[in-house]
Amino acid sequence: MDSTTIFCFLFCSFLFLSLLKSRGSGGRRLPLPPGSLGWPYIGETLQLYSQNPNVFFASKVRKYGSIFKTHILGCPCVMISSPEAARHVLVTRAHLFKPTYPASKERMLGKQAIFFHQGEYHAKLRRLVMRAFTPESIRNIVSDIESVAVESLKSWEGQLVNTFQEMKTYTFNVALLSIFGKDEVLYREDLKRCYCILEKGYNSMPINLPGTLFHKSMKARKELARILADILSIRRQMNQNHTDLLGSFMGDKEGLTDEQVADNIIGVIFAARDTTASVLTWILKYLAENPSVLQVVTEEQEAIRGEKCGEEKILSWADTKKMPITSRVIQETHRIASILSFTFREAVEDVEFEGYLIPKGWKVLPLFRNIHHSPDNFPQPEKFDPSRFEVAPKPNTFLPFGSGTHSCPGNELAKLEILIFIHHLTTMYRWSVVGPQNGIQYGPFALPQNGLPIRFSLKR
Ligand code: HEM
Repeated sequence: MDSTTIFCFLFCSFLFLSLLKSRGSGGRRLPLPPGSLGWPYIGETLQLYSQNPNVFFASKVRKYGSIFKTHILGCPCVMISSPEAARHVLVTRAHLFKPTYPASKERMLGKQAIFFHQGEYHAKLRRLVMRAFTPESIRNIVSDIESVAVESLKSWEGQLVNTFQEMKTYTFNVALLSIFGKDEVLYREDLKRCYCILEKGYNSMPINLPGTLFHKSMKARKELARILADILSIRRQMNQNHTDLLGSFMGDKEGLTDEQVADNIIGVIFAARDTTASVLTWILKYLAENPSVLQVVTEEQEAIRGEKCGEEKILSWADTKKMPITSRVIQETHRIASILSFTFREAVEDVEFEGYLIPKGWKVLPLFRNIHHSPDNFPQPEKFDPSRFEVAPKPNTFLPFGSGTHSCPGNELAKLEILIFIHHLTTMYRWSVVGPQNGIQYGPFALPQNGLPIRFSLKR
């Protein structure tokens, strides 16, 4: 074959594939969304990750509108940034878009974890997880969470601390409390040691050879599963009813295998820890930068504290419902920090979407941060203004916990542990940020630069 024949053959194949790809499900020809796929294989990955990802998203939205195609991390993607389109992908047409994660993450968390499933198995897990995180269940652990918060804050007194690192300890301990109840202290150190090794491999190359990060993580993963198997066997011998997550998993009539329980416990720790720790870190930053907001939050919390007598000052579930100003600070932090800039789905078949074709196998990314930072949804979006939440946001414009069948089942617990922490923080302590603090790092959650180093002390 000479070069002209090869060229003609390649050109015809390309044309044929393009025609196939641009056919809608009803046989109609549909265009792909506008945008560029960049270089072969690497696509636009470098453009996305070599700068603040929001600059990439914003410039694409300006150029192509609220739905556009790109190619990142080896996958063709469609990104969507309108509230209505996000609702379609996550809620109304969710059956056409399955959750998708890198294979390395699936191996580390465990294949049976809730995130990776659809249909019956997912619905069953979700019921069991939701049962442990309803307001009725978590109201029983308010005083235990409070003890963890008080203990954490005490350990920071007079120190220069890395806020994010310390918050991870707090949120890890609260996650264990919600999973194992009061028994958690017995397993805390062993679980923490293994989990810390495991997490180092989350974003590593999945090469399972001795010496690699991935290999060390997989070993820690096995040890975690062994510790969890021991905990399960002790619980079975005790034969008591527990209202924590482990109790919910073990109490189900249909029964989960030990492997399913382990994968989902590791999964919940993964989902609960860094997310909540990032939000808490941002809250400390925004409160430090906005003294008038800090003032009104402190007054709200002191009023609750003032109603109590005695040394202990124990918070009740009812107290946490009397914190509207603090709750709006949390909402505004969710919006402005948008710690999860986007999530991933994958089209399970060719999908016609707003007049475009999303081909089967393409990733679809609802861009939460763009929705939260659009002036159409939130006027003066870059201003930290908790009072904007005195009025409910427009439908589908506020999605810190996602939406639809995979939305966050831990949102009430996250709010509760943040409120309890802020109560003790603002009534007892003062803090100041150390060093320049304009940068954001993404790892993968958005975080103030260097984890927000602060100087921390008792008020009186
Ligand atoms: C402020 C803290 C948190 C934020 C911002 C957050 C955010 C989210 C978001 C956006 C999703 C949906 C992801 C998607 O649709 O792809 C999600 C799912 C999930 N979250 Fe959270 N989360 C937080 C805390 C927690 C906590 C404390 C727990 C558990 C105690 C938890 C457990 C889960 C689980 C199990 C899922 C998967 C649900 C499913 O696939 O059905 N999260 N979270």
